[in-house]
Amino acid sequence: MINVIRTKDYEEASDKAFEVMKEYLRPGKVLGLATGSTPLGLYARMVKDHQENGTSYKEIRSFNLDEYVGLPITHPESYYAFMHHNLFDHIDIPEENTHVPSGLGEDLEAQARHYDEMIDACPVDIQLLGIGSDGHIAFNEPGTPFDSGTHVTDLAESTIRDNCRFFDNDITKVPTQAVTQGIGTIMKAKAILLIATGSNKAKAVKEMLEGPIDVSCPASILQKHENVTVIIDEDAAALLG
Ligand code: GLP
Repeated sequence: MINVIRTKDYEEASDKAFEVMKEYLRPGKVLGLATGSTPLGLYARMVKDHQENGTSYKEIRSFNLDEYVGLPITHPESYYAFMHHNLFDHIDIPEENTHVPSGLGEDLEAQARHYDEMIDACPVDIQLLGIGSDGHIAFNEPGTPFDSGTHVTDLAESTIRDNCRFFDNDITKVPTQAVTQGIGTIMKAKAILLIATGSNKAKAVKEMLEGPIDVSCPASILQKHENVTVIIDEDAAALLG
């Protein structure tokens, strides 16, 4: 079941997302974390809450959704660096409790299978998601099977264009492949929190919430999950009936 929360703008969406997330900021919880510009407001609120209220992450574990293939963790646009810069370095989560898939290695498919095994051994309590303008979740592009596990994938052209802004607006610098949790992996999370803001997401949001459940919109599978909260602002909700 999808519980839709409508907000005025990005700031209010981030406030609501923090209210949902706050319930999970307790010892023993496992957070599924996401990158992109969407969760930045939520991460800023988590950092502020840690600093002001002392909420501790010492006994919390995390699994990230995805990583670009070929970027070392020292690259500023790697998702590993993103997570450290925007969240991990400002809270007290132990490094060994955090997991971001690696985009480097001899056998990325074997590493992907190992990532799924780690998640199976440590089920995610709440998975945070953004959504791509083409309806992708993590880096599961349209056409990805709904039962997929963590795998290596080619990025859609629209995704490469969308992410160009993070790579000096130079399309040749954007990686063309990623390692991503599969849709099957994501669907195992006990609860899902998806945030979508801005008019660029309106079409994907409509297809996710009102369209048929079809691989052409990967996020549409969330209609089948039993505990999903979708937080959208006015712009992202603009096409809803
Ligand atoms: C990337 C990430 C997704 C994210 C999406 C939207 O492709 N792999 O996890 O949801 O972009 O990004 P943004 O939040 O910047 O719009």
